[in-house]
Amino acid sequence: MRYIGGKTQLLGDIETVINSNTTGREKVFCDIFSGTGSVARHFKPRYEMISNDILHFSYVIQKATVENNCVPKFHGLSKIGITDPVKFLEETDMTASVQASTFVSDNYSPSGSCTRMYISNDNAIRVDFIRSSIESWKQSGHIDETEYYYLLAALIEGVPFVSNIAGTYGAYLKKWDKRAFKKFEMARIEILDNGFENCSFNADSNNLIREIEGDILYVDPPYNSRQYAPNYHFLETISRYDNPEIRGVTGMRPYHDIKSSFCVKSEVMGVFEDLIAKAKFTNILISYSTDGLMTPSQIETVLKRYGDGRSYKKYDIPYRKYKSKLSDKASDLREYLFYIRKEIPKPLIFNAPKRVKQKISI
Ligand SMILES: C[S@@+](CC[C@H](N)C(=O)[O-])C[C@H]1O[C@@H](n2cnc3c(N)ncnc32)[C@H](O)[C@@H]1O
Repeated sequence: MRYIGGKTQLLGDIETVINSNTTGREKVFCDIFSGTGSVARHFKPRYEMISNDILHFSYVIQKATVENNCVPKFHGLSKIGITDPVKFLEETDMTASVQASTFVSDNYSPSGSCTRMYISNDNAIRVDFIRSSIESWKQSGHIDETEYYYLLAALIEGVPFVSNIAGTYGAYLKKWDKRAFKKFEMARIEILDNGFENCSFNADSNNLIREIEGDILYVDPPYNSRQYAPNYHFLETISRYDNPEIRGVTGMRPYHDIKSSFCVKSEVMGVFEDLIAKAKFTNILISYSTDGLMTPSQIETVLKRYGDGRSYKKYDIPYRKYKSKLSDKASDLREYLFYIRKEIPKPLIFNAPKRVKQKISI
């Protein structure tokens, strides 16, 4: 999925920095601003993973591809004659069926009274059918939690391929892009089994950091005032399917409860310092842009305040990696990687807390 600040192109650089600063004996890796989950999936073969994001659709993708270790078998659905749920959801003729919910059709396609053009009529009906079916299968007990998140992720990952947008969902295009006329298809998601009990969260980073510990913490926060929630509201609504009271020309859902302090100039230093101060991770790696709300020297000061100053390093990633993807204006933006080692005091009592409190509600 195309995603603001997505790190697919930087995975090699992140890996090089990790390899040159770690011993090879590290076990637990946390991707605390996981977004598309690309970094967490990249490192999943090597480490027990913790992943997290404040957005629900990101959490769904993480649950399916980071926490989960297998393509589900869907035994419950086989019992009612559905052996291939993805095929069933994509191909069932819906003309005779009464839709349980038509939220996407009513609000984001031209067939609705608001005539928004995020998605074609046919694809909107299909998305509603798939989303409602997944929910009703969960409620009737025909799918378990793993199967639920797997199907939801397959739905969400398919939506951008038929969306009538120019990159994000902050606005839809006023003319139809040919992409929107493609028949909707769910993603066929492959799952890697790393043999560990991985754990994905849908929490604020600064709440979660107090509850976890491990060896490598990868921190990739937003770097400017552009909030993610309004830019991906359509995917968030399909993911939550909670009939929100949407507003305005773009049909935006309320997002005050998932607004990020990392996007607010007056708040970012406070939350960043708190995150680093509370981190119980020996190796900390930060991704940040050259034109972010925090300056490199502010980041350095915070890292050296809580980490071992002798281990501090700043890596400058050349913009050429991004050149083909960005407009000329944006092509002078670069990306930094910061590294610091942090000494974590050993607990006084032998019976140390579990690495991840699985049942925490944050
Ligand atoms: C730069 S993107 C991460 C991109 C990701 N590394 C990838 O490759 O897809 C930043 C992410 O941080 C999330 N985020 C912002 N504030 C957050 C917070 N306080 N707690 C958790 N996640 C947050 C956003 O939803 C967004 O997905």
